Formats: sequence, C-alpha cells, structure tokens
Amino acid sequence: MKKVLSFENVCSGYGRIRILDNLSFDVEEGEVLGVIGPNGSGKTTMLNTLAGLLRPFSGRIIYGGRDISRLPPYSRCRIGIGRTFQIPRPFTGMTVLENVLAASVHGGGMSRKEAAFFAEECLETVGLGDRKNESAAALTLLDCKKLEVARALGTRPKLLLLDEAAAGLTEAEVGEVMELVARLKKQKLTVIWIEHVLEAMENSTDRLMCMAQGRNVICGLPREVTASEIVEEIYLGGRE
Ligand SMILES: Nc1ncnc2c1ncn2[C@@H]1O[C@H](COP(=O)(O)OP(=O)(O)OP(=O)(O)O)[C@@H](O)[C@H]1O
Ligand SMILES: [Mg+2]
Repeated sequence: MKKVLSFENVCSGYGRIRILDNLSFDVEEGEVLGVIGPNGSGKTTMLNTLAGLLRPFSGRIIYGGRDISRLPPYSRCRIGIGRTFQIPRPFTGMTVLENVLAASVHGGGMSRKEAAFFAEECLETVGLGDRKNESAAALTLLDCKKLEVARALGTRPKLLLLDEAAAGLTEAEVGEVMELVARLKKQKLTVIWIEHVLEAMENSTDRLMCMAQGRNVICGLPREVTASEIVEEIYLGGRE
C-alpha cells in the first residue's frame, strides 16, 4: 500500500501553547483511518495542522511525497485535502446546492459550469439530491452533517478529513453516516475520521489511532485498539 500522508514528529498548537507533542502517524492510500481520544487530546488540532490552519512548530507533514508543512490552507485544498468542521457552519443565506457550488468554485478551483454539474453529484453522493433547492438554514442536524461532507467533497479531495461527522446523531443516523463513509471508500477516497462513537470506529475504519495529550498512543486494527489496556487506561483510568 502506498503512503499518502505522514506526520513526522509534529509539534503544533495555539500561540506558544504546545498541543501536538511529536505526533507521528501514516495514512495509506484508500484506507479509512479512525481517530479517537479523550476531549482535549488534540484530535481537532491535528486536523487543523493538517489542513493548514496551524503551522507546525517543528516536524514535517508529508503528503503525496511532498513536504506541505508550510503551505497555506487554500493550497492544501487545491492539492486534494478536503475537510469538514466539528461544528457545521453552512452559509445559511444560501441554498444547499449553492453551499456546495461555493466550495467547488472557491475551494476546488472549478469553473461555474463544471461546478454546477459536480456539486449536484456531491449532493447525490451524500443523499441530499432532493433537497438541493432548500435553504441550508432549514436543515436537520443529520442533513447539516451531510451538507458538511458534501461541501468538502465539492473541493474534489483525495484525502477527506471528517471531524465528528456522527456526533450528536441517533443510532440510526450514525448508521447513515457509516454507509456514507463506506460509499466514499468505494470511490477510492482516503479518509481520516475523528469520532467518539466507538461503534462507528470499530466497524467503519481500517485502522484506528488513539490520541492522548497530543500523541499517538496506539494505532492498529480497530478492535485491538479499543480492547487494549492502554486505551482502557486513558478512558477509564485503568483496571482496579
Ligand atoms: N483556539 C484555541 N486556542 C487555545 N487553545 C485551544 C484552542 N483550540 C483548542 N485548544 C486547546 O487545545 C487542546 C486540544 O484541543 P482539541 O480541540 O484539539 O481537542 P479534541 O481532541 O479535538 O477534543 P474534542 O474531542 O473535545 O473535540 C485543548 O486543551 C483545548 O483547550
Ligand atoms: Mg475536536
């Protein structure tokens, strides 16, 4: 399997506050890498550093064989890194379709004609095709999450970063998100999926990484990771 992404001893954070502490991990082409870890362990900070909102203090991020550590966010988007946000914030003054069009034109660099076709395809993929002309302000949480994914897809990513795409959803709705990720994997997308919902992480990822205090504590087969003593210790404080 070909590596598409490597974090090499990345330290990163906000201002002078160090959150990521020599974080290292790899992502292989076509895989879904799940990321778990307690609140505040640095999962979103990792995503922000990968997407370019934060610059590493030290270490390197290698994507497609190239060091992208210093590239600005819009350049990373253009070379195929697409992301969703933990708290969806669609443009509420626009329709569902217009939200994705904006992503395709401004994030993906497509012409309006190309974007018009492509954005509809993205909405079909996430299951919002029949709601394209509705206002984004009227969406339920599940549909908001789907739109968030469609907006990321609208930039035509090769590597898709999902930050808690299933948080706050019912069990049935989580199932829908799991099906969506399975569809994306079939379309040959590589995915990093941060999530607290363990059922989704165990059943929908190829490998799972657990972070704690900005570090990669364990990474491996999902059920081996969730059953490991170190993960039990991190979440529950260990056995009595
Ligand atoms: N903008 C910011 N400025 C300063 N510190 C921040 C900022 N955003 C996050 N932090 C701090 O960075 C640490 C890691 O936060 P991060 O959001 O990456 O955690 P997380 O693993 O995504 O948590 P959660 O599961 O709650 O989403 C926390 O201590 C948090 O308080
Ligand atoms: Mg987070």
